[in-house]
Amino acid sequence: MSTVHNSIVVFGATGRMGRRVAALSASVGAHTVAAVARNGSGALGTRVEGCESPVCAASEVRAGRVVIDFSSPHGVEEASALAERLGAALVSGTTGLTESAAERLRQASRRVAVMWSPNMSPGVAAVARAAAALARDLGPEYQAGIVEAHHRAKKDAPSGTALRLAEAVRRAGGDLPADRVLSLRGGDVVGEHTVRFAGPGECVEITHRATSRDLFALGALRAALRMVGRPPGWYSIEDVLGA
Ligand SMILES: NC(=O)c1ccc[n+]([C@@H]2O[C@H](COP(=O)([O-])OP(=O)(O)OC[C@H]3O[C@@H](n4cnc5c(N)ncnc54)[C@H](OP(=O)(O)O)[C@@H]3O)[C@@H](O)[C@H]2O)c1
Repeated sequence: MSTVHNSIVVFGATGRMGRRVAALSASVGAHTVAAVARNGSGALGTRVEGCESPVCAASEVRAGRVVIDFSSPHGVEEASALAERLGAALVSGTTGLTESAAERLRQASRRVAVMWSPNMSPGVAAVARAAAALARDLGPEYQAGIVEAHHRAKKDAPSGTALRLAEAVRRAGGDLPADRVLSLRGGDVVGEHTVRFAGPGECVEITHRATSRDLFALGALRAALRMVGRPPGWYSIEDVLGA
């Protein structure tokens, strides 16, 4: 039975991530009230696990306290408009954002609570903190680099997570130019990131391996439940999950 505060709208509901968000929503006490696909999608009217109503277009959604978006840069813009129309919070994990999509999210944060994170896992948040600590300790004599690997269908490269980790290293004073962020694509790899620091006579590496998309789906769902009722603004995953 749905209660008002736990009703979520899954945007991009027929994708790899959206399907897992809908399917796992009940396991964290959320209720998927709408599963949204793009206008004209062949999936409209079909069912996804975890949502009682058929897959619909954004214009058909009537209620929901929080929109969870895993779609595309253009989808982010539509998800922002939907969250504004519903007066719902927005949790977006979509990466490879264009300038216009990032600006649209910022604009939405003036009217509703918005959290965007390129990686919803607590492990990656911890790796970002550890990488920053290594960059501070080892200093510029150590050249930093990042190697990331993902499945062959991933659209953006480098991954949003690699960009976030690179930013954490640079902010801590690490030497990490863009050409030392390397991407591999192939197979069904969910997501792997290695941050390395190569210095005189040694190399230090930290690796994160995601073995299931459920990790990201559950992170987004937990964040979504904590975003309900927050005032308009821009929130980080650390703000919301206390990571
Ligand atoms: N933050 C994290 O932790 C995390 C983790 C994993 C993935 N991601 C990111 O999440 C995004 C989705 O990944 P994925 O692997 O699930 O991709 P995917 O399998 O391609 O799914 C994306 C879904 O969004 C739909 N979509 C695209 N544009 C839309 C629009 N304008 N309106 C409505 N639906 C739209 C697509 O529909 P069509 O098939 O009709 O195009 C598709 O069903 C990517 O940016 C990925 O990098 C983030």
